[in-house]
Amino acid sequence: MDHTPRTILVTGATGGIGRAVCLRLAEGGATLLLAARDAARLQSLCAELPALGPAGHGWISVDMTLDASVQQFADALSERHVILDGVVLMPPQDPPTADALPSSEKWREVLQNSFVGPLALLKAAIGAMQPDLTQGRRCKIVIVSGISSAQVLGHYASSNVIRCAWLAEAKTLAFALGERGIHVNTLSLGGTLTPGYAASLEKRAANAGVSYAQRLAEETANVPLRKYGTPQDVAGAVDGLLSAFTDHMTGHNVLHDGGFTRAY
Ligand SMILES: NC(=O)c1ccc[n+]([C@@H]2O[C@H](COP(=O)([O-])OP(=O)(O)OC[C@H]3O[C@@H](n4cnc5c(N)ncnc54)[C@H](OP(=O)(O)O)[C@@H]3O)[C@@H](O)[C@H]2O)c1
Repeated sequence: MDHTPRTILVTGATGGIGRAVCLRLAEGGATLLLAARDAARLQSLCAELPALGPAGHGWISVDMTLDASVQQFADALSERHVILDGVVLMPPQDPPTADALPSSEKWREVLQNSFVGPLALLKAAIGAMQPDLTQGRRCKIVIVSGISSAQVLGHYASSNVIRCAWLAEAKTLAFALGERGIHVNTLSLGGTLTPGYAASLEKRAANAGVSYAQRLAEETANVPLRKYGTPQDVAGAVDGLLSAFTDHMTGHNVLHDGGFTRAY
C-alpha cells in the first residue's frame, strides 16, 4: 500500500461504490474531499472517516449535471486552496435503455448529464493539481466507467456511446497531461453488487418467480469468475490505480468484470 500523504477528490462519494472507495482510501491514509449532491449524507460520511485514518477530510455539495453548480464547485476549490493528488470521477448515468435512437432533446440531456457536466468538474479538479516530477509527485485520475466501453450491450444503448466518449476523452487527456505527470485511466465495471444493484436483482428474481440466489447464479453463469463484483473489489482496484502501480501507466481502460468481456 502507498503511504505517501495525498489528497483525493471522490465524486459519487456517498453511493454504493463511492462509500467503499472512501473507506478504503481513508484507511490507506488519504485525505479526502467528498462530492455528491446530498449535503447531509456527505456530512455524515465525512464524520465517519477520521476514525479510519488521518483527519482533515472535507466535502462539497455539487450537482455535476448543472453548469452553475459545477462553477460553484470550482470556486469552492480555489477559495479553499485545495491541492489535489488524485480524482475518482463517477459520472452520473441515466437508467439503462434499449432505445438506440432517442430524440435529439434526450441526447442533449444525456450528454450534458453524463459527459459535459462531469467533464467541466474534472477540468476544475485538474486545475487544482500541482504535480512535481522533480519530487516524484504524480497526480492520478480514475474515471469510473462501465464495460459498454469495450463491447456493445443492447440494453445500455446510450451508455454504449457515453462510455466510449469517456474512453476517448481519457486517452486524449492522457496524451495532453502526461508530460506534466498527470495520469488518466478508466475503470470499466461490470455488474457490481451495490445496495442499488442488489435491489434491482431482487426485483428481477421476483419477476421471474425465482429466489435471489437462483437469479444471481443465472446472471453470473456467463461470467468466468461466476460472480458479480463488490464495492470493496472496486475500491481495491481504484486504490491500485491511484497508487505507484500506475506510475508508468496512463490512457488504460481497465476492465473490472470477472472476465465477462470477451473482446481482446
Ligand atoms: N453498480 C454497478 O453495477 C455499476 C456498473 C457499471 C458502472 N457503474 C458506475 O459506478 C458509478 C457509481 O455507481 P453506484 O452504483 O455506486 O451508484 P449509486 O449508488 O447510485 O451512487 C451514485 C453517487 O453519485 C452521486 N450523484 C448522483 N447524481 C449526481 C449528480 N448529478 N451530481 C453529483 N453527484 C451525483 C450520488 O449522491 P447524490 O444522489 O447525493 O448526488 C451518489 O453518491 C457510476 O458512475 C456508475 O455509472 C456502476
